[in-house]
Amino acid sequence: MSDLRLSLTDRCNLRCFYCMPRAHYSWLAKTDVLSFEEISALVSLFLSLGIRKLRLTGGEPLVRKGLAKLVHLLAQKPQLEDFALTTNGVELAPLALPLKEAGLHRLNISLDSLQPKRFEQISKRNSLHQVLLGIDAATQAGFPKKLKLDTVVIRGFNDDELPALLQFANERNAEIRFIEYMDVAGAVDWSSEQVVSQQEMLQRIENNFGPTLPLEEIHTAPAKRYQLANGTTFGIIASTSSPFCDKCNRVRLSADGKLFPCLYANEGLDLKKELRTNKTSPQLQQLITSFWKQRTEKGAAQRLLSKNRRAFKTEKELLENPHLEMHKRGG
Ligand code: GTP
Ligand code: 5AD
Ligand code: SF4
Repeated sequence: MSDLRLSLTDRCNLRCFYCMPRAHYSWLAKTDVLSFEEISALVSLFLSLGIRKLRLTGGEPLVRKGLAKLVHLLAQKPQLEDFALTTNGVELAPLALPLKEAGLHRLNISLDSLQPKRFEQISKRNSLHQVLLGIDAATQAGFPKKLKLDTVVIRGFNDDELPALLQFANERNAEIRFIEYMDVAGAVDWSSEQVVSQQEMLQRIENNFGPTLPLEEIHTAPAKRYQLANGTTFGIIASTSSPFCDKCNRVRLSADGKLFPCLYANEGLDLKKELRTNKTSPQLQQLITSFWKQRTEKGAAQRLLSKNRRAFKTEKELLENPHLEMHKRGG
């Protein structure tokens, strides 16, 4: 366990069809959402257990009020080696500089299309312009570590945009990662026909830019990185066709304090309950350690074995257990 993904809210200002395709969702009650003090206490605890990378996620983390204050609080923690945030970029323009000044190291921004109509078709909101302003603000803010852009590639929607997106990222000195469409809980419309595999993505990129050179992998990172002849680097996250479960060392904490050992896990450990019943730090450490030791989930790898692969969870299952949803446990 070295990488903690912390969801700050289950709310989101987009409705990407690969994540939140339905018309209605249930939301966490405000009183159930961890306060900044609770988050800070839990982060300290995880750091004491060996976590070195922290990523803030959502839903959409920028909709959480007072975010820069929280970032400032967490950035002070001495053991923290990498402090990042994943955002859809919609609310980023006014926040990029305050987040950098508060001590955030880097950003990953989702960008699925450069075409306004398409962006709206994918996310149900006409927000591309705002996202582009957010990306500009992020590059201008001068974060100490490189900006990444994330594109979920879906056949028939944006699979012809790989070269344009690569070029866009390169012009901004950002590294783009193309993500295979995953059958995570929430993606109820998932079908294998819409997945563009890593191999096919590479082929499309090579058709445009010539041969690619695979770069040395960082052991626990989900992206395989490649380089074009002109030096441009990019990544592919092949969680669907080639899962990285065996190397996975990430835990996820939902906004209401449930700890999940895997994106696909059915059950989580209710840390909020333990925290609010005044368990001591050693007691909490013990609970987390044994929870982590007992985990058996290797969700994406297990999904690979399923025959006639369809969406992981049905709408009915999601209504019964909303914590299964990707937007509740952080992408
Ligand atoms: P860095 O490489 O450290 O920048 O982080 P990251 O790639 O984990 O961050 P990001 O939040 O940008 O995630 C990118 C994509 O990786 C997500 O959209 C998911 O598709 C995939 N991903 C993230 N976490 C997991 C995970 O725990 N399991 C699997 N199978 N895929 C994941
Ligand atoms: N497949 C792949 N990536 C997904 N994300 C959300 N749902 C899916 C899915 N079904 C990604 C977002 C973003 C991160 C938060 O999670 O695009 O990069
Ligand atoms: Fe899209 Fe991320 Fe919001 Fe899901 S949480 S709808 S992927 S922006």
